[in-house]
Amino acid sequence: MDWKVPLSDISFDEREEQAVIEVIKSRWLSMGSKTQLFEEKFAELTGSKYAIAVSNCTAAMHMSHLAMNVKPGDEVITPSLTFIATVNTILAAGAKPVFSDVESLDKWCIGVKNIEPLITSKTVGVAVVHYAGYPANMTEIVSLCRKHNLYLIEDCAHSVGTYWQGKHMGSFGKFGCFSFFSNKNMTTGEGGMLVTDDDQLAEKARLLRSHGMTTLTWQRHKGHASSYDVVLPGYNYRIDEIRSAIGLVQLSKLFENNKKRALLVDAYRRRLANTPNVSVPFAANEGKSSYHIFPILLDSKVSRSSVIAMMKEKGIQTSIHYPAAHLFTYMKSFLGTRENTLPLTEKISSNVLTLPLYPDMSFEQVATVVNSLNDCLCK
Ligand SMILES: Cc1ncc(COP(=O)(O)O)c(C=O)c1O
Repeated sequence: MDWKVPLSDISFDEREEQAVIEVIKSRWLSMGSKTQLFEEKFAELTGSKYAIAVSNCTAAMHMSHLAMNVKPGDEVITPSLTFIATVNTILAAGAKPVFSDVESLDKWCIGVKNIEPLITSKTVGVAVVHYAGYPANMTEIVSLCRKHNLYLIEDCAHSVGTYWQGKHMGSFGKFGCFSFFSNKNMTTGEGGMLVTDDDQLAEKARLLRSHGMTTLTWQRHKGHASSYDVVLPGYNYRIDEIRSAIGLVQLSKLFENNKKRALLVDAYRRRLANTPNVSVPFAANEGKSSYHIFPILLDSKVSRSSVIAMMKEKGIQTSIHYPAAHLFTYMKSFLGTRENTLPLTEKISSNVLTLPLYPDMSFEQVATVVNSLNDCLCK
């Protein structure tokens, strides 16, 4: 489909091309010096002691829960309004996801008033999501986790370049997990990063990333090691040099691109201010986001599927972030979750519509999207 305005687009130029060519010419493709530099720069960005580059954010979250030694019967509280990876990785690590509603129809992140009532003797952790790039209230969530001795993992797939009270997202809990998937604020195609301040957890995560092996091919290539031991059952969750080289370029563009996103969101908000049957969430949070996506909430009397179809006719791609996770078939059958349990999440997930947003989008395209939406809503 040739969209007039796609939902998202990459921000690549000759710098990424050059970076890839340089790696190919170096003849070393698996983790090496580019990855090491990427990790160093990312640790600097987030103010974390360690950054561990991985194949994607799902891997980062899986490793995080495994590193916390969850066991069957353990419960981890998580939003239902998220991409399913946040939930699946809790299950994959052997624990049970317990779904929290979001704070309000304006703030689509989970907060302590939703989390605390869900805490039981089985609760071991909280996996928080900074939805659309807007930070959850980390001051309150961190102190709640301390009070109940729960580990905290931040799903930062949307929030690279987001800060809460001057501290980068991902640096509040045990682990912060980032995604560099193609639609993210910085991308390597597929890719991710795990950050932590904890020496032992970092060591364990490195082992989990590569089969539990005590040395890497790179260390052996460099002559720093000749063999290895295996000290735990790990995975192949590694990134590679091509992705790391692209990541370094993307990182250098991050703040400029996030600034462009902020201006586009501002333009959207102003243009949508008088659109009937539409509200824009996070009004109270403006100025504190990486603006990963631009979701709006349609009035429930609007047929969202008709709007999506009409926008498509006009060449405008829209999406839904997200179908409520607790209402997916697998969660209902495996966990026994059901409708009418998370009223805000269910309302949002039935009426949310995500409009296009990417750094090289023009203000004219914002106008086109909003005018088209107004046309669709009038029909
Ligand atoms: C909130 C959220 N969490 C996790 C992920 C998974 O990221 P990845 O595709 O890098 O595994 C995504 C990706 O879209 C996401 O949006």
